[in-house]
Amino acid sequence: MTNSLDKSTPYNPWRLSVAPMLDWTDRHCRVFHRLLTRHTRLYTEMVTTGALLHGDQPRHLDFNEIEHPVALQLGGSEPADLAACAKLAEKWGYDEVNLNCGCPSERVQRGAFGACLMAEPALVAQGMKAMKDAVSIPVTIKHRIGVDRVESYDFVRDFVGQIAEAGCEVFIVHARNAWLQGISPKENRELPPLRYEIVHQLKREFPHLTIVLNGGIKADAEIAEQLQHVDGVMVGRQAYHEPWQMAAWDETFFAEAGPALSREQVEAAWLDYLQAQVAASGRSWSQGMRHALGLWNGQAGSRRWRQIWSDHQYKSMPVAEVAAVATQARTGVAAQVQAHEEQFQQRLA
Ligand SMILES: Cc1cc2nc3c(=O)[nH]c(=O)nc-3n(C[C@H](O)[C@H](O)[C@H](O)COP(=O)(O)O)c2cc1C
Repeated sequence: MTNSLDKSTPYNPWRLSVAPMLDWTDRHCRVFHRLLTRHTRLYTEMVTTGALLHGDQPRHLDFNEIEHPVALQLGGSEPADLAACAKLAEKWGYDEVNLNCGCPSERVQRGAFGACLMAEPALVAQGMKAMKDAVSIPVTIKHRIGVDRVESYDFVRDFVGQIAEAGCEVFIVHARNAWLQGISPKENRELPPLRYEIVHQLKREFPHLTIVLNGGIKADAEIAEQLQHVDGVMVGRQAYHEPWQMAAWDETFFAEAGPALSREQVEAAWLDYLQAQVAASGRSWSQGMRHALGLWNGQAGSRRWRQIWSDHQYKSMPVAEVAAVATQARTGVAAQVQAHEEQFQQRLA
């Protein structure tokens, strides 16, 4: 499969991306997403500087060549550590290194990074500068529009201004505040209100910066609408849960003429990949397969297909055998639905 990004693309590299999501956008998930869209930028899960500098680097950093363009997201605040990790990202071949200043989890706050860093712009600026000085790949930031009850535009404008002075040119803005106390990270992705106009205002005020909007985007029409105001859109949960939506993105947002792969072709390529993973690692395919369970959503038989792939009793069976059972279950339901429809039409005639 040829999957390299056409470097002649007229679009800015941040036009469309899939968000970094801990426990979700691992390397297997990213390969699956890449089978659906060639141009959309992909982000790793957040990796902390501590885990990278003192842990198993290949486990955190290895990725598949087809994932390009792919960005490594870091969690950390110590400038020297960030610089060392940015160097690792460059050495491993990542296309970008991104600093997480948007995660509100208490574990992350104890480590003094994530969203609480928005209250320490000088420290973030030092970290961004240290990374920029260390590498030649783009160094970018992902942040919120405010922390706790600070609702003023000035807060985020001053934050962006200060980080831009340190040399950062790309800002991915999750368009809601982070509430640092009393609610879970999940609630923090739902309860603080979305305020897209704040992100639009940032773009107007800093036209030379690349401003990417994130948060709550679902339909392609919403992506298109946001692209009228900002340089890029980052989609998280919707892309993960409804992956087939991404199959239209190259054509819709990167003007790449079809023919796109069919669901069957994507499934076949994905299962080949899983099979190779099982052969190489000896582990079950189930950890990888969980990312693809939404592939047939909306189609007749998708529930049965998903049930088979999630059923514990199949987990030690070879990929090809489970695939045969799952496809039979799916197409069996599809055939039943079609037969019912035909009967119904005959009765109407
Ligand atoms: C399961 C999960 C894990 C996440 N992990 C991260 C992370 O590691 N780093 C980060 O910057 N944001 C993380 N986020 C937040 C997303 O990147 C994104 O900002 C958020 O989900 C809002 O976008 P959406 O409404 O399109 O999902 C996570 C979100 C989810 C659902």
